[in-house]
Amino acid sequence: MFSRTRANLIIDDISFDIYENEFLVILGPGQAGKTVLLNMIAGLYPPTSGSIQYEGKEIHGVDPRISMVFQKTALLPWRTVMGNVSFGPELAGCPARQMEADARHYIDLVGLNGFEKSYPRQLSGGMKQRVGIARAYCAGPEVLIMDEPFGALDAQTRYMMEDKILEIWEKEKKTIIFVTNNIEEACYLGERVILLSKCPAKVKKIYDLSDFPRPRDNLDKEFMRIRQEISANTDLPF
Ligand SMILES: Nc1ncnc2c1ncn2[C@@H]1O[C@H](COP(=O)(O)OP(=O)(O)O)[C@@H](O)[C@H]1O
Ligand SMILES: [Mg+2]
Repeated sequence: MFSRTRANLIIDDISFDIYENEFLVILGPGQAGKTVLLNMIAGLYPPTSGSIQYEGKEIHGVDPRISMVFQKTALLPWRTVMGNVSFGPELAGCPARQMEADARHYIDLVGLNGFEKSYPRQLSGGMKQRVGIARAYCAGPEVLIMDEPFGALDAQTRYMMEDKILEIWEKEKKTIIFVTNNIEEACYLGERVILLSKCPAKVKKIYDLSDFPRPRDNLDKEFMRIRQEISANTDLPF
């Protein structure tokens, strides 16, 4: 897939299903091809061979049912939190009242009420990521793709955001495809974890963690065993 010459092959032998309302984690080392894979799922890059299907039909180009949260939030600096979150619906010509009500709902959901009129430069990294998440949800997708959204955050903020995203997922019940290079994060969040190899990316193994109760207990013996197994299967730190 992606490139016809072996030298430029980024995505090699990848096949998996994603279930409705699932929290699916894609775990792999840096430069594995995770972002390329996400861009293909989002319809931004067409695969050179193989196909990506949504409810049995091939994805062609950007699809409004799929929305993306980036590692760097790329907020519009001249727009407030409200202006950023409602940007998509505004472009789509959504009526102002509806748009504002929706944006308020998602701003509340990510815990940013009171910051509607703030500008991105006035927000911390974690808060900016919350705006990015609210913006993605406010576009009204069925599937959210998150590309290492907490990768640039300090550890404490990251743990807080992991709990936040789980809380949002419980409330909104949409499909989340979450990419990370962090085993602990993958296992804390995912119902399933798809472990990728180094570039060209292949599926090494799919771990089903859906039987582990939430919140996940990082000290649970079986849970630790799986984390250790993943670590042994890759260069990523435990
Ligand atoms: N548009 C592109 N054209 C050619 N090569 C690309 C393109 N985008 C990414 N790559 C290459 O694909 C490899 C994987 O990149 P990426 O998907 O960003 O990795 P990851 O997100 O897992 O860190 C890298 O070697 C990168 O240089
Ligand atoms: Mg990437």
